[in-house]
This record gives sequence, C-alpha cells and structure tokens, in this order.
Amino acid sequence: MSAFLSNLRYVAWTGLAVGVLFFLWYTLGVRGIAFGEGVFWEAGLRWLHVLSGIMWIGLLYYFNFVQTPNAPKIPEEHRGPAIGKVITPAALFWFRWGAMSTLFFGLLLAWNQNYLVQALTLGAIDDPPFAAPKHIFIGIGMWLAIVMWFNVWFIIWPNQQKALNIDNKYPDLAADAKTKAAKLAGQFSRVNTFLSVPMLVAMTGAQTLG
Ligand code: HEM
Repeated sequence: MSAFLSNLRYVAWTGLAVGVLFFLWYTLGVRGIAFGEGVFWEAGLRWLHVLSGIMWIGLLYYFNFVQTPNAPKIPEEHRGPAIGKVITPAALFWFRWGAMSTLFFGLLLAWNQNYLVQALTLGAIDDPPFAAPKHIFIGIGMWLAIVMWFNVWFIIWPNQQKALNIDNKYPDLAADAKTKAAKLAGQFSRVNTFLSVPMLVAMTGAQTLG
C-alpha cells in the first residue's frame, strides 16, 4: 500500500480508472443509459470539465493564496532556486494544460447541449434575441473563463517564462525586464483570481437557475 501511495502515477491512473468504472456502472448499469446517448456524453464531459477546472483553479489559488504571499517571508539565503526553478515551472505546466483541458471540455459540453453558439453570442442569435436567459447567463460565465484562459496562455505563461528563464528561453534578459515580466504575470494572475469568483456563479448556477 505504501509503495502504491508513494507513486503518483499509480495513484492518478488508478483514480481515473476507478472514476471511469464508477461512471460506466452508474450510467450504463443502474440508469440504463445507452452508450453514446446525449446524456451519457453530457455527464462524462461535465466530469472531465470539472476535473480539469479543479487542476487549473486549484493551482491558481495555490499561487495567489499560498506561494506569492509567503515566498517573500522565506529569507533570501534559504529560498535558493527551489521555488523559481523547480516548484513554479512544474506548477505552471499543470496550470496551463489544466486551463486548456477545461476550455476544451467546456466548449464540448456546450456543443453537446446544442447551445455553444447561442451562449458565445450571449443569446443574441436566439429567436427572438435574448429570449433564453440561460444562454446569456452561461455565456457570461464562458466568456469570463475564456478571458482567464487567454490570460494564462498569452500573458501569465510567456511572462513567467521570461521572469524565471524557464527552459532557458531568455538566458540574457536584463534584471529589470525580468522584474517587469514577473509583475505583469502576478497582476494577471490576480485578475484571474478575481474573475474566477463571478465566473463560478454562472458555471455552478447554470443547471439550477438557467
Ligand atoms: C474555460 C472556459 C470554460 C467553458 C467554455 C466552460 C463551459 C461550461 C459549460 C458549457 C458548462 C455547462 C453548464 C450547464 O449547462 O449546466 C459548465 C459547467 C461547469 N463548469 Fe465550466 N467552463 C469553463 C471554465 C470553467 C472553469 C475554469 C471552472 C472551474 C472549476 C468551471 C467549472 C464548472 C462547473 C463546476 C460546472 C458545473 C457542472 C454542473 O453543474 O454539472 N468551468 N462549464
């Protein structure tokens, strides 16, 4: 048991396998839903979407509530390269791919429910326009999350690459350019923390209020 628990790969893959079996048992077995039916995919996509969202927003909150406020409390001589060279690049890997996978499954989820374009246009193409409040509501949530995804991939990640010289992409960057990049990444990470709160109102409320 201890050997199993000390291997992250075993634990993650087994968790995924048990999740799939649990899902198949309940949908196909208990509920008698046909494989490939609309609700089968809808439930599966919701699971993968929220799983990815936890990976993304979990790390966003880790950066904002734990790492950023506490790293400066570690005396310079003890901080060494641990955070900048090891922890942050690893966290940024799961962070940005978590964001990508959340977006991917989120868009598929909307498509699966036949309202992808209606939601992305905030209900403007409904007939009559804006007649379906759910499309406006989830559409606002989707756009907030898409802006957050954009910030991750096009502002936070490239600026962290500069600030920390990740993969040795910027070996000769001047110290003040690094500081500027770190500041920009930090500010947009804060913007995302802020946006995540209203975004989740729409995500979690769409089924109940929509
Ligand atoms: C990146 C762009 C995103 C898109 C396009 C998107 C899209 C969607 C869609 C279409 C739904 C289904 C709403 C419904 O009809 O009930 C949904 C639900 C949800 N989303 Fe997102 N989403 C995104 C980001 C996020 C993020 C970052 C999180 C954070 C964890 C998140 C968490 C959720 C949750 C918890 C639900 C509710 C699941 C349920 O009630 O069954 N989404 N999302």
